[in-house]
Amino acid sequence: MPSDFTVFIGQMMRKPKEVSAIAPSSAAVARKMTEGVEMVEGPILEIGPGTGSFTKAILDRGVPPERLILMELNPRFCDALRAKFPGVRVLNRPAQEIEEIGVTNLGCVISGVPVLARPQIQREVVGRAFNVMSPEGVFVQITYSPNAPIPPEVQAEMGIHGERRATVWANLPPARVFEFRRRAQ
Ligand SMILES: C[S@@+](CC[C@H](N)C(=O)[O-])C[C@H]1O[C@@H](n2cnc3c(N)ncnc32)[C@H](O)[C@@H]1O
Repeated sequence: MPSDFTVFIGQMMRKPKEVSAIAPSSAAVARKMTEGVEMVEGPILEIGPGTGSFTKAILDRGVPPERLILMELNPRFCDALRAKFPGVRVLNRPAQEIEEIGVTNLGCVISGVPVLARPQIQREVVGRAFNVMSPEGVFVQITYSPNAPIPPEVQAEMGIHGERRATVWANLPPARVFEFRRRAQ
């Protein structure tokens, strides 16, 4: 069976815009991305899981596989995810269809989908995610930018605010983890 790295690089060369990274995220990033998920109530959705760095970390934190749903655009990654994580629901669908998969009251969305400098995707993915998240739900996003991957005016338009949770140097390239929540009324 090919390694995660081999599968990832192969798909990155075929679909660079979608994959948008040079390697799977490190275990150090995965730990930061998934901090606290074991305390979250309700279903957990991961979007853009790739070869499953964050998926593994979510399960390692004790989340039962049946509470976890993955939405991944790339069919090759979906095959690998199904083989590696039995019991987890793997949907080969774009994250833009988040409102159409029949889940509500999501406690948390963990996102590897590239949203930086893509305002349309920010609205179609992050904006729609908040429509199906619980009031206290958190949207966690990886980025390689030092700044929030969603600009302040788009956050304001969507009624959310973001904070940097961590900078992780042990990743190629170094990564930042941002969390977004609904603004207080
Ligand atoms: C930067 S990679 C991150 C992979 C993995 N989360 C990691 O950190 O190693 C981006 C992933 O998002 C997926 N992706 C891109 N656009 C997507 C979309 N609209 N919906 C779902 N997945 C998407 C890509 O196929 C790829 O697996």
